[in-house]
Amino acid sequence: MSNVIIVGTQWGDEGKGKIVDWLSQKAHLVVRFQGGHNAGHTLVVNDKVFKLSLLPSGIVREKTLVLIGNGVVIDPFHLQKEINELSDQNIKISSDNLIISDSAFIILPIHKLIDKLREEKKNKNKIGTTGRGIGPSYEDKVGRRGVRVCDLYDKDELYNKLSNLYDFHNIWLIATGEKKQDPDEILEKLWALGQKLKSYVQPSWLLINKFNRPSFNILFEGAQGTFLDIDHGTYPFVTSSNTVASQAGIGAGLGPTCIDFTVGITKAYTTRVGSGPFPTEDTGEDGMALGKKGHEFGTVTGRQRRCGWFDAVLVRQAVSLSSINGIALTKLDVLDGFEEIKICTGYNLDDKIINYLPSSEKQQKKIKPIYEIMKGWKGSVVGLRKINEFPQEARDYISKLEKLIECPIILISTSPERSDTIYINDPFSPN
Ligand code: IMP
Repeated sequence: MSNVIIVGTQWGDEGKGKIVDWLSQKAHLVVRFQGGHNAGHTLVVNDKVFKLSLLPSGIVREKTLVLIGNGVVIDPFHLQKEINELSDQNIKISSDNLIISDSAFIILPIHKLIDKLREEKKNKNKIGTTGRGIGPSYEDKVGRRGVRVCDLYDKDELYNKLSNLYDFHNIWLIATGEKKQDPDEILEKLWALGQKLKSYVQPSWLLINKFNRPSFNILFEGAQGTFLDIDHGTYPFVTSSNTVASQAGIGAGLGPTCIDFTVGITKAYTTRVGSGPFPTEDTGEDGMALGKKGHEFGTVTGRQRRCGWFDAVLVRQAVSLSSINGIALTKLDVLDGFEEIKICTGYNLDDKIINYLPSSEKQQKKIKPIYEIMKGWKGSVVGLRKINEFPQEARDYISKLEKLIECPIILISTSPERSDTIYINDPFSPN
């Protein structure tokens, strides 16, 4: 029995939902450890579509316990909405299958307001956030004025903490001509919601510790992707949490020696939603075709995703940053029918070839991709369940990727359906 982490290796939207869902069949506990409802997972199970943002994907499986860890920022209003929506789809949610960490931080309506206003005021320099208050809530966490889930259960304490936080933000709001916000407007609503959610709330590290035993499998479900990581991503065009595998320990409450296998989710091409550098972005016909065939619209915001060819430099870097043991390759079918397929194998920076993403924002914008061109395949890989049924060119593409990113591909997804997946190796009992 083992503990497995899943992380995205690009800019998010790699198709993690389906892979988490597959792995959660074998997990006794599924844990979210960072991010918030900026994430969007779509699961297709027996023709039923489930859209999740905050709840870990294992929630749609009977008998799987899911946990929202301390590293997540929780909008309690959104959480209640998501619980209600799933209940309407006949997914039963109770304290038997959902646990919320009492030390997770809360996203308040004022965080959402600040997120929105800041983006508006930045004009063309905007990050393109999801507008859900993620950044401002994490800022309050490290600024040591945040409100945590455990604060919802002492009204005086809650009011004091809210007042302190609102006082801080009102200085900026008033200075920029915005309306002063009043903590009294939120106190009662938050208190009532806290009571509704109370049965789910626990010191979650204790529970994780109970499951960290040879008889259990734990799955740690990352959100977003490596290059949206606050330390390792295309800063400042990133999210406000760590998205790499090491965050699983911090955001859940256990140490790095407990992890047995890390899976990187990788799309067979590249997409990005929001602003920021994207070396292989293709704004021409190929990019349009990838977007159209891949239905590349954000689950959370509905925004059109930017598209481009596979960037092996980025994914190799992600493999290294999270010590990834195996890759789950998604959306290979979207490449069906292209005459030629490009793979970025290095970057040109000021006439020098480099094989990593530089840290500097200016250099990230300046680098030009160096492509290797491969022959595309005729026919389709949609729904295929054996690698030897793939056209030879598709097999060549997969082998080339493995070589360039220096990591084995352990799973290939050939359609959104749960069953259209080729399993090469099982992270919970790898061979
Ligand atoms: P924030 O996380 O809402 O602050 O947004 C910061 C950046 O991360 C923006 O470019 C978002 O589009 C991007 N982002 C946040 N969450 C996701 C996700 O789940 N998938 C893809 N991009 C995301």
